Amino acid sequence: MEMSRKQFLIRAAAMAAGFPCASLAGDLAAAIGERQVNAGPVGNFAADGLYEDFRDQGFFVIRHGGRLFALSAICTHRKCKVSGAHDRSFYCKCHGSMFDPDGKVTEGPARRDLPVLHYFTNANGELIVVVPAG
Ligand code: FES
Repeated sequence: MEMSRKQFLIRAAAMAAGFPCASLAGDLAAAIGERQVNAGPVGNFAADGLYEDFRDQGFFVIRHGGRLFALSAICTHRKCKVSGAHDRSFYCKCHGSMFDPDGKVTEGPARRDLPVLHYFTNANGELIVVVPAG
């Protein structure tokens, strides 16, 4: 969810220059290797749960206790895609790393948590998730 310093500076410069931020942000995101994925209307994620439709695009959308967030689906060990389990944790079949429902490592070999991804809502009320390069 946290924006990098570089992302912040680019977006702040775009806004200061009066550019339409959503389209410019998309162009700039592409220029720095990010993708912006339209996950559809925010209302599609109204109920608590794990939304796995975007796993192949590198993230999950999760609503838990009223909190909506996007979590990377890419294992921090060697970049395999992780899978959701019934207890809302995540499992990487490549080497067995496990992560809790917030993406924190509970079992290695991964040592870094699954990143929470930045997102925003566009003018149409759609959830746009910023997926880092790589
Ligand atoms: S790539 Fe996930 S545990 Fe190695």
